[in-house]
Amino acid sequence: MARIEAEVGKPQGGLMKWIDDRFPFTETMKYHVTEYYAAKSFNWWYIFGVLAMVVLVIQLVTGVFLTMNYKPSADEAFASVEYIMRDVEWGWLIRYMHSTGASFFFIVVYLHMFRAMLYGSYKKPRELIWIIGMLIFFVLMAEGFAGYLLPWGQMSYWGAQVIISLFGAIPGIGDALVEFIRGDYSISDITLNRFFALHVIVLPLSLIGLIFVHIVALHHVGSNNPDGIEIKEHKGPDGIPLDGVPFHPHHTTKDLVGIIVFLMLFTGVVFFAPEMGGMFLEHSNFEPANMTATPEHIAPVWYYTPYYAILRAVPSKLWGFILFAIAVVLPLFLPWLDRARVKSIRYRGWMYKTALTTFVISFVALGYLGLQAATDAYVMAARFFAVLYFMFFLLMPYYTSIDKTKPVPDRVKYHE
Ligand code: HEM
Repeated sequence: MARIEAEVGKPQGGLMKWIDDRFPFTETMKYHVTEYYAAKSFNWWYIFGVLAMVVLVIQLVTGVFLTMNYKPSADEAFASVEYIMRDVEWGWLIRYMHSTGASFFFIVVYLHMFRAMLYGSYKKPRELIWIIGMLIFFVLMAEGFAGYLLPWGQMSYWGAQVIISLFGAIPGIGDALVEFIRGDYSISDITLNRFFALHVIVLPLSLIGLIFVHIVALHHVGSNNPDGIEIKEHKGPDGIPLDGVPFHPHHTTKDLVGIIVFLMLFTGVVFFAPEMGGMFLEHSNFEPANMTATPEHIAPVWYYTPYYAILRAVPSKLWGFILFAIAVVLPLFLPWLDRARVKSIRYRGWMYKTALTTFVISFVALGYLGLQAATDAYVMAARFFAVLYFMFFLLMPYYTSIDKTKPVPDRVKYHE
């Protein structure tokens, strides 16, 4: 009987055996899918990783089709996008899917990162998953930035002008660096060409590579869960974590529900509100780039505005740039800033809960302020929220070490 059971688990011969003798297909599927044990208590916060992968696929596929008709030249880029929108079969759909996909990428990734902050997923032993995640985030920011120049609209041009010239504030090398990024004395056809190369080749390839190692690292240590309990520490006699269920079919089925709901929302926006009132596609980007006419109000797309608000809140160009850069990079250090002995928000004290709430409010407020014209009142408000933003990180070693945490149970909480 035992022999028969042992035989059942083996590849049965035929094509599968032929493949397995030459490539570890069954072994890989077992390790990453059918015998990857993850806590049965995953909640909906755990959907965003897989949704980020769905958006990545949407961006790659629509991006390839856009590239077939887009012309990366200052003379033709704007008109080629109009051509895609009006004359290419289904071109409008492809373009709107891609532009909406960019915003949804950031929505999904921000929520994915926030989940890690809720459940302490960046803490030991998952520091490297978090660091790789932050690298993904930096590349994603660069990818969105390079992509935004390509339609060669007014905001493409002036947005790039503002951000690239920031590097000029770096003492000594600033001017040379700006020229190096632009490839010219001003933003020109040359800049457009190199941004195109970065946007369609270098950055997507880096993203794919980083996401691959992100998952490899995750599957090596195992997923965290809403209780922040290491399920590998409680295994049954068969060596399987008592609180784990195989990723397939349990989590794949649940993920499928999430993917369907996500696609409904996504298509809703693509078909009914692709510009999102100027948030996803800014109004002035429907005018061709004009280097002799600065738009009245320059604002980057919403996903950069929390950082942009910090930049504008500082009077000195150099310090604005430094604080902007620190604001983007600070989360990378969360695994070491957070000294709490518990991972999940469920067992943390009031200090962390208050700090995290303040962080969310300051991030959203900065995002809103970054979209508005820089009047005195808005700049003052941005300074206030920027201070809160930085305090969340810089005071973290202190408040997480004195915060009164609750005892963590041995096993995950799960309601059948
Ligand atoms: C294109 C972007 C990304 C993709 C496709 C991606 C994909 C995934 C997937 C599929 C998972 C497992 C499922 C889940 O836990 O949701 C995961 C887990 C994780 N990701 Fe990402 N990720 C991305 C970006 C990021 C970023 C920007 C960060 C943080 C800076 C990050 C941090 C994490 C962490 C800490 C985990 C482990 C979570 C846990 O076990 O609780 N990821 N990622």
